[in-house]
Amino acid sequence: MTFTMPDLWRRLRAETPGASHVVHFNNAGAALMPGPVIDAMQKHLQLEAEIGGYEAARERTGDISEIYSNVAATIGARADNIALTANATDAYARALSSISFKPGDVVVAAWSEYASNQIQLLSLQKRFGVRIVRAPALASGKTDLEALDAIIKREQPRLVVSVHVNTSCGIIDDVAGIGAVCRRRDVLCMVDGCQSFGQMPIDVEEIACDFFSATSRKFMRGPRGAGLLYVSDRVLSEGLEPLFPDLRGAELEDEKRYHPVQGAKRFEDWEFSYVTLFGFGAAAAYARNIGLDRIEARLAEVNDYLRASLQRLPGWRVLDEGVGAGPIIPVHTEAGDGAAIHRRLCEQRINTTYIPKMWAPMDPRLVDAGWAIRISPHYYNSPADIDVLLGALGDAVS
Ligand SMILES: Cc1ncc(COP(=O)(O)O)c(C=O)c1O
Repeated sequence: MTFTMPDLWRRLRAETPGASHVVHFNNAGAALMPGPVIDAMQKHLQLEAEIGGYEAARERTGDISEIYSNVAATIGARADNIALTANATDAYARALSSISFKPGDVVVAAWSEYASNQIQLLSLQKRFGVRIVRAPALASGKTDLEALDAIIKREQPRLVVSVHVNTSCGIIDDVAGIGAVCRRRDVLCMVDGCQSFGQMPIDVEEIACDFFSATSRKFMRGPRGAGLLYVSDRVLSEGLEPLFPDLRGAELEDEKRYHPVQGAKRFEDWEFSYVTLFGFGAAAAYARNIGLDRIEARLAEVNDYLRASLQRLPGWRVLDEGVGAGPIIPVHTEAGDGAAIHRRLCEQRINTTYIPKMWAPMDPRLVDAGWAIRISPHYYNSPADIDVLLGALGDAVS
């Protein structure tokens, strides 16, 4: 199998300054930002330095609304349904806080929640007596929709949560199927799209979810410190609002009363790093320019080649073989200590993530193995990057 890099992707790699310094397979952690994202942030930082932070935001109100339109368009949403947040976990917490849980209320979670989400659900359990019921997975690794339907019928949950692309393996869940079950049963549906955002076209209308959370810095290639929460019209018209709105999310009428603002902005805080938001907006515009369908197709080529090469690599095991197909590849070896191997990769400027099992205690593959090195490619990875990675992993077990 040969693997080449057509011109478009070479050009995009050339626009990525970090690609000439490191071998980056940590896009599920934080991707390398392209030049236009860096420029957008530097431009706004400069303006803030020259005329003042409040004044810079006021002067660029048109550009700021464009950030919302660009970010919203990457998930098929309208700008009014988007709240910009500090990160995906922040978005998730704001959404959870808008539901007035009572003791005994049920949240159904698809087979594997991201660890921080699970901690938040457990915190709701501890404080409000919410019950968490887990929906099982099929042999394919995706959520069992029939079982989910039966659980919803039996438990009458307030909310169903799921993860589009898992953090610890390449399983891509059928979130549209989950959304359809929830819509039929009239249950709120929340999707964590942190790892799918930026790597494929997403349509929140098609998924039929009520909340969708994501982050800027992963496959979308934006900066750290920004995220988004999509909020459906249904949720907004039902009057759901976060537990702690501030004076951006709500208007104080007098000493005793406030009302939430229109639209998803009721889920936002007043204070933002506008520099970061400009980077996020530029990353969304950059991805839209390339085309998320094209990104998905190229990423599939890189991922298929890399997965096949890793499966053949002596001494190493691809933990999600048979179920995972996406560009998050967990590998393990019995011939060494994962943390030490990861340290050595870092020293060689080969970027990956070391995942201990407590990061994904509901992923049976990871729990059995104890740890994984997570390899997450992007469209800008070159054949030479892959050779360097394979060589270093080979050396680590020889
Ligand atoms: C599936 C998933 N959800 C949520 C998060 C949390 O994102 P953030 O760190 O932006 O809060 C991550 C981070 O790795 C993730 O992989």
